[in-house]
Amino acid sequence: MRVAILVQALTVCVSQGFLISTAEQCMDPPVAAGFTNERYNGLWYEIGKMQTPGGAAFEKDCVCTTIDVQPVKGATNGDSTAINSCRKLAPTGDFLNATGSLTNENVPGHWKEGFFPFTPKADYRIIYLDDNLAIEYDCTSVLWITNYCIHLLARTPTISDADEKKLMDVANGLKLNTQNIAYQRTLQAGCW
Ligand SMILES: *[C@@H]1O[C@H](CO)[C@@H](O)[C@H](O)[C@H]1NC(C)=O
Repeated sequence: MRVAILVQALTVCVSQGFLISTAEQCMDPPVAAGFTNERYNGLWYEIGKMQTPGGAAFEKDCVCTTIDVQPVKGATNGDSTAINSCRKLAPTGDFLNATGSLTNENVPGHWKEGFFPFTPKADYRIIYLDDNLAIEYDCTSVLWITNYCIHLLARTPTISDADEKKLMDVANGLKLNTQNIAYQRTLQAGCW
Protein backbone atom coordinates (compact mmCIF):
# COMPACT_ATOMS: atom_id res chain seq x y z
CA MET A 1 0.00 0.00 0.00
CA ARG A 2 2.75 2.40 0.96
CA VAL A 3 4.63 1.72 -2.24
CA ALA A 4 1.46 2.15 -4.28
CA ILE A 5 0.83 5.53 -2.69
CA LEU A 6 4.37 6.65 -3.40
CA VAL A 7 4.16 5.63 -7.02
CA GLN A 8 0.83 7.36 -7.42
CA ALA A 9 2.14 10.46 -5.72
CA LEU A 10 4.89 10.74 -8.31
CA THR A 11 2.57 12.06 -10.94
CA VAL A 12 0.27 14.01 -8.70
CA CYS A 13 0.93 17.55 -9.67
CA VAL A 14 -0.19 19.24 -6.51
CA SER A 15 0.72 17.63 -3.27
CA GLN A 16 0.54 18.20 0.42
CA GLY A 17 3.17 20.86 0.00
CA PHE A 18 5.40 20.30 2.96
CA LEU A 19 8.35 21.69 1.06
CA ILE A 20 7.27 25.25 0.73
CA SER A 21 5.13 27.72 2.51
CA THR A 22 3.78 30.97 1.28
CA ALA A 23 1.02 33.43 1.94
CA GLU A 24 -0.19 33.09 -1.64
CA GLN A 25 -3.59 31.59 -2.23
CA CYS A 26 -4.92 29.79 -5.28
CA MET A 27 -5.88 32.03 -8.15
CA ASP A 28 -9.40 32.13 -9.54
CA PRO A 29 -9.02 32.39 -13.32
CA PRO A 30 -12.02 32.11 -15.67
CA VAL A 31 -12.41 28.86 -17.59
CA ALA A 32 -11.58 28.78 -21.30
CA ALA A 33 -13.99 30.51 -23.62
CA GLY A 34 -16.02 27.96 -25.57
CA PHE A 35 -15.08 25.12 -23.23
CA THR A 36 -17.00 21.89 -23.60
CA ASN A 37 -16.10 18.55 -22.06
CA GLU A 38 -16.22 16.95 -25.50
CA ARG A 39 -13.51 19.30 -26.80
CA TYR A 40 -11.28 18.57 -23.80
CA ASN A 41 -11.73 14.79 -23.76
CA GLY A 42 -9.01 12.58 -25.16
CA LEU A 43 -5.25 12.44 -25.14
CA TRP A 44 -3.04 15.45 -24.38
CA TYR A 45 0.73 15.68 -24.41
CA GLU A 46 2.38 17.83 -21.78
CA ILE A 47 4.51 20.44 -23.55
CA GLY A 48 5.75 22.05 -20.37
CA LYS A 49 4.81 23.24 -16.93
CA MET A 50 5.32 25.68 -14.13
CA GLN A 51 4.98 23.74 -10.94
CA THR A 52 5.70 24.55 -7.31
CA PRO A 53 8.35 22.43 -5.58
CA GLY A 54 5.82 20.59 -3.41
CA GLY A 55 4.52 18.96 -6.56
CA ALA A 56 7.72 18.91 -8.56
CA ALA A 57 9.44 16.84 -5.89
CA PHE A 58 7.21 13.99 -6.98
CA GLU A 59 6.90 14.72 -10.65
CA LYS A 60 10.41 15.85 -11.45
CA ASP A 61 11.45 12.45 -12.84
CA CYS A 62 8.66 12.48 -15.43
CA VAL A 63 9.30 12.51 -19.16
CA CYS A 64 6.90 11.65 -21.98
CA THR A 65 4.03 12.96 -19.87
CA THR A 66 0.47 12.59 -21.15
CA ILE A 67 -3.02 13.11 -19.80
CA ASP A 68 -5.92 11.11 -21.16
CA VAL A 69 -9.30 12.56 -20.18
CA GLN A 70 -12.39 10.39 -20.45
CA PRO A 71 -15.94 10.82 -19.18
CA VAL A 72 -16.97 8.39 -16.49
CA LYS A 73 -19.20 5.84 -18.18
CA GLY A 74 -22.83 6.75 -17.75
CA ALA A 75 -22.16 9.97 -15.85
CA THR A 76 -24.27 12.98 -16.83
CA ASN A 77 -22.71 15.43 -14.37
CA GLY A 78 -19.34 15.85 -16.08
CA ASP A 79 -17.47 13.39 -13.85
CA SER A 80 -14.37 12.29 -15.72
CA THR A 81 -11.09 10.50 -15.23
CA ALA A 82 -7.71 11.94 -16.07
CA ILE A 83 -5.13 9.24 -16.59
CA ASN A 84 -1.78 10.86 -15.93
CA SER A 85 1.02 8.86 -17.47
CA CYS A 86 4.73 9.43 -17.74
CA ARG A 87 8.04 7.58 -17.93
CA LYS A 88 10.63 7.72 -15.21
CA LEU A 89 13.70 9.74 -16.31
CA ALA A 90 13.91 8.38 -19.88
CA PRO A 91 11.57 7.35 -22.69
CA THR A 92 12.42 3.75 -21.90
CA GLY A 93 11.90 4.22 -18.16
CA ASP A 94 9.16 2.64 -16.09
CA PHE A 95 5.64 3.97 -16.45
CA LEU A 96 4.52 6.22 -13.62
CA ASN A 97 0.76 6.33 -14.00
CA ALA A 98 -1.88 7.85 -11.76
CA THR A 99 -5.57 8.19 -12.38
CA GLY A 100 -7.17 11.39 -11.17
CA SER A 101 -10.89 11.72 -10.61
CA LEU A 102 -12.45 14.89 -11.94
CA THR A 103 -15.63 15.62 -9.99
CA ASN A 104 -17.81 18.53 -8.86
CA GLU A 105 -17.82 20.22 -12.26
CA ASN A 106 -19.72 23.29 -11.14
CA VAL A 107 -19.16 25.08 -14.42
CA PRO A 108 -17.87 23.32 -17.55
CA GLY A 109 -14.08 23.17 -17.34
CA HIS A 110 -13.86 23.63 -13.58
CA TRP A 111 -13.59 20.46 -11.52
CA LYS A 112 -12.06 19.14 -8.35
CA GLU A 113 -9.31 16.60 -8.92
CA GLY A 114 -8.64 13.89 -6.39
CA PHE A 115 -6.23 11.00 -6.45
CA PHE A 116 -7.12 9.43 -3.14
CA PRO A 117 -10.16 9.56 -0.93
CA PHE A 118 -8.24 10.97 2.01
CA THR A 119 -6.14 13.67 0.43
CA PRO A 120 -7.34 17.21 -0.27
CA LYS A 121 -8.76 17.67 -3.72
CA ALA A 122 -7.15 20.18 -6.01
CA ASP A 123 -9.03 22.92 -7.76
CA TYR A 124 -8.67 21.94 -11.44
CA ARG A 125 -9.64 24.07 -14.36
CA ILE A 126 -8.99 24.50 -18.04
CA ILE A 127 -8.23 28.11 -18.73
CA TYR A 128 -7.38 27.87 -22.42
CA LEU A 129 -8.69 25.48 -25.05
CA ASP A 130 -8.66 25.31 -28.82
CA ASP A 131 -8.49 22.41 -31.27
CA ASN A 132 -4.79 21.76 -30.62
CA LEU A 133 -3.79 23.47 -27.40
CA ALA A 134 -4.91 23.74 -23.81
CA ILE A 135 -3.76 25.08 -20.48
CA GLU A 136 -4.71 23.32 -17.26
CA TYR A 137 -4.30 25.05 -13.91
CA ASP A 138 -4.59 23.08 -10.70
CA CYS A 139 -4.04 24.32 -7.21
CA THR A 140 -4.44 23.35 -3.58
CA SER A 141 -4.30 25.70 -0.66
CA VAL A 142 -4.16 24.14 2.75
CA LEU A 143 -3.77 26.71 5.50
CA TRP A 144 -0.84 28.87 4.46
CA ILE A 145 0.57 26.38 1.96
CA THR A 146 -0.30 26.71 -1.69
CA ASN A 147 0.84 24.39 -4.44
CA TYR A 148 -0.06 24.80 -8.05
CA CYS A 149 0.78 23.54 -11.48
CA ILE A 150 0.25 25.21 -14.81
CA HIS A 151 0.32 22.58 -17.56
CA LEU A 152 0.76 23.52 -21.20
CA LEU A 153 -0.93 20.78 -23.21
CA ALA A 154 -1.23 19.91 -26.89
CA ARG A 155 -2.75 17.24 -29.10
CA THR A 156 0.72 16.66 -30.56
CA PRO A 157 3.94 15.81 -28.66
CA THR A 158 5.60 19.03 -29.81
CA ILE A 159 4.33 22.44 -30.87
CA SER A 160 5.81 25.48 -32.58
CA ASP A 161 7.69 28.07 -30.55
CA ALA A 162 4.98 30.56 -31.48
CA ASP A 163 2.25 28.35 -30.02
CA GLU A 164 4.30 27.73 -26.89
CA LYS A 165 4.78 31.47 -26.44
CA LYS A 166 1.08 32.05 -27.03
CA LEU A 167 0.22 29.68 -24.17
CA MET A 168 2.84 31.25 -21.90
CA ASP A 169 1.39 34.67 -22.62
CA VAL A 170 -2.10 33.48 -21.66
CA ALA A 171 -0.85 31.98 -18.39
CA ASN A 172 1.26 35.03 -17.57
CA GLY A 173 -1.58 37.36 -18.50
CA LEU A 174 -3.74 35.70 -15.85
CA LYS A 175 -0.91 36.06 -13.31
CA LEU A 176 -1.21 32.40 -12.37
CA ASN A 177 2.46 31.88 -11.64
CA THR A 178 2.32 33.64 -8.30
CA GLN A 179 5.53 32.05 -7.03
CA ASN A 180 7.47 32.84 -10.19
CA ILE A 181 8.34 29.23 -10.87
CA ALA A 182 10.60 28.70 -13.87
CA TYR A 183 9.01 27.17 -16.95
CA GLN A 184 10.13 23.62 -17.57
CA ARG A 185 9.68 22.03 -20.97
CA THR A 186 8.70 18.36 -20.90
CA LEU A 187 10.86 15.89 -22.80
CA GLN A 188 8.71 14.32 -25.52
CA ALA A 189 11.41 13.49 -28.07
CA GLY A 190 11.99 9.79 -28.54
CA CYS A 191 8.86 8.84 -26.62
CA TRP A 192 6.53 7.92 -29.44
C1 LIG B 1 0.38 3.73 -18.27
O1 LIG B 1 -0.42 4.53 -19.10
C2 LIG B 1 -0.11 4.40 -20.47
C3 LIG B 1 -0.95 5.41 -21.21
O2 LIG B 1 -2.30 5.33 -20.87
C4 LIG B 1 -0.39 2.96 -20.93
O3 LIG B 1 -0.06 2.82 -22.28
C5 LIG B 1 0.46 2.04 -20.09
O4 LIG B 1 0.13 0.71 -20.40
C6 LIG B 1 0.24 2.27 -18.60
N1 LIG B 1 1.19 1.47 -17.87
C7 LIG B 1 0.95 0.94 -16.69
C8 LIG B 1 2.04 0.14 -16.11
O5 LIG B 1 -0.10 1.12 -16.12
